[in-house]
Parts: sequence; C-alpha cells; structure tokens
Amino acid sequence: MKILITGAAGFIGSHLCERLLIDTRHEVVGLDGLVTSSTPVKAREYNLRHLLQHPRFTFIKQDLLTVQWDQLLPGIDIVYHLAGMPGVRSSWGEDFKHYIRNNIEATQRLLEGCRTYPVSKFIYASTSSVYGEKIGQVNEMASTAPLSPYGVSKLTGEQLCKVYAHNDAIPLTILRFFTVYGPRQRPDMAFHRFIQHILQNKPIPINGDGTQTRDFTYVEDCVTAIAAAAHADNIMGETINIGGKERASVLDCIAILEEHFGKKVERQFMGKPIGEPSHTWADISKAQSLLGYEPKTDLRKGLKAEILDIYNNPSL
Ligand SMILES: NC(=O)c1ccc[n+]([C@@H]2O[C@H](COP(=O)([O-])OP(=O)(O)OC[C@H]3O[C@@H](n4cnc5c(N)ncnc54)[C@H](O)[C@@H]3O)[C@@H](O)[C@H]2O)c1
Repeated sequence: MKILITGAAGFIGSHLCERLLIDTRHEVVGLDGLVTSSTPVKAREYNLRHLLQHPRFTFIKQDLLTVQWDQLLPGIDIVYHLAGMPGVRSSWGEDFKHYIRNNIEATQRLLEGCRTYPVSKFIYASTSSVYGEKIGQVNEMASTAPLSPYGVSKLTGEQLCKVYAHNDAIPLTILRFFTVYGPRQRPDMAFHRFIQHILQNKPIPINGDGTQTRDFTYVEDCVTAIAAAAHADNIMGETINIGGKERASVLDCIAILEEHFGKKVERQFMGKPIGEPSHTWADISKAQSLLGYEPKTDLRKGLKAEILDIYNNPSL
C-alpha cells in the first residue's frame, strides 16, 4: 500500500510516517514544503532524520500549492492530509493569510489533484477547535462554532473536503484531534513553552488563570488512531474525534512538570487569551468502535517523554 502523508516534517506527520513504516506492507511518501511556521526549519528537518534513512520512505520537499500532481499522485492508495498552518493564537491579524493559504487553498488544490488521480481513502486532519465553547463531553454530532480564525480555516477545510466527497466521490474521513503533545511538540504549544521556560529558569507564562482544561492526547496514541484508519472498514464519510487518556487543567499540568523537575516554578499570568475555549473534552466512543482506539498514555508519562525530547534535541 502506497501512502502519501502531507505535513510529513511536522510534529504529528513525522510520527505518523514512522508508525506507518512499521508495517512492512506500506511504502510512505512524505511531502512537506517546510513553509513559514513557528517551528524552525532545522527542527522540522531534525524530525525527518530517521525517516530519511528508511528504504520505504521518500521525502518530497514541495509546497501543496505548486506540486505537480501527475508526478505525485499516480499509484497513491491513501492520502493523509496533515499539512497546514496550526496554532490558534497566531491566526489573528495579518498572519491569517498563512491560514488561508495553507489550510484552505492547499486543501482545495489537493482535492482537485485527487479528483484527477483517485485514491481509496482521503483522511483529513481536523481539530477540536471547530467545536468552539462547549459544556461537557463533545461527540461528532455537536454543532461547530469555532472561536478563532484558525478554527474557521480548518472547518472550511472540512467543508471543502465534504463538497469534493459529494461531487467527486472522494473517499473522505475527517479526524478531529484534541491538543496533541509529546516528543517533537511544536515550540508554540503550551507544554513545549512551559518546559523551555523551566529549563531556562524563567517564569512560566500562563494564558488566563490556568483553570482551563484540555483533553490532552499523547502523540503516540494519536498516531495509533490515525494509522488504524488505513485499514479500518466503514469509516468513509465519517467524522471521528481523537482525544486522549486524560483531561486536566493547565495548573494540574504545571504541577506535574514541577514534580518531574523537582522544583517549584514561578507562574506569570498573561491575561485571558482570545479564541480559546475554557474546556475541551472528547467523546471518543466512535473512535473506539470504528478504529479500535484506546488511548494509553497518561500525562505523567507523556510529559516526561516530552521533557526528555526537548532536553536532548540539538535543533531547538
Ligand atoms: N498539534 C495539535 O495539537 C493539533 C490539534 C488539532 C489538529 N491539528 C492538525 O494536525 C495537523 C498537523 O499539526 P502539527 O501540530 O503536526 O503541525 P506542524 O506545523 O508541526 O506540521 C505541519 C506541517 O505542514 C507543512 N505545510 C504547511 N503548509 C504546507 C503546504 N502548503 N505545502 C506543504 N507543506 C505544508 C509545514 O511545513 C509543517 O511541517 C495540522 O493540520 C493541524 O491543524 C494539530
């Protein structure tokens, strides 16, 4: 099975490539344009270091807005579309143009490519940010009401996928990830920033009062669910939440980091952020039944792995 993963040099994409290559039936083509991002290019090149040695992996350094489909898509069975511009906070103001380009235009162009060169599965990486503010556990039937331009751009991507699925029979599955963390987490994400500040003996910057809760998904759990989609039946046309093993507040997570580092850290409260919900909580029963998904890693273990990765990563 030949699998194309867009965003292969990114945080989740690089883990997904590695996971899919464990199955010897898979050949993986990883595409990434290393586009403008809060993650330095050298950190994304570092994410690829093991993959580039792998005999069943091919890396294509191309932008989805310019790549030639006739050179990429013929022979591809499954497309995992993870490329995009992530991040809620940076999606306001001038920078929204990057979200339009990489989340909306790039998705539309890839869908056009798959219209000409059909694939057997098209899996779109979406986000809990499409839900907006919700009370309690959220299933896939909940209404969408993004709070940020980022959420709007990802929801637009979902809608584009649905339009092409409807008109061109693109075999679509949408996966909605909930706050992914672990080794290679992007430097703009909260845990990564917290750990860097602790290592540099600086106060931890906290958005809001820290009581906001998130459904935190360890990256290896997340890619277990994503990889399962390659061989799952009955997922065409489905939207599926991918949440984690544990929900916690930001302050709870900082307490775990303090335990790991064996010291108290100073907190710096930065004021309420815009565009972020107070709580996220995934109902993952659909992922359990359709993908056999069961998240395994708790925050204590997952944060330890992320600390070790940041500590040992020479590209940061
Ligand atoms: N990390 C999370 O917690 C999270 C949560 C929900 C959804 N997601 C979604 O998962 C996907 C991956 O997120 P991530 O955290 O790994 O991000 P990331 O920034 O680490 O990886 C994204 C990669 O996509 C590439 N890319 C962007 N636009 C491109 C284009 N036009 N052509 C080619 N490559 C391009 C970038 O160069 C980057 O390497 C994104 O679509 C994101 O919206 C992430």
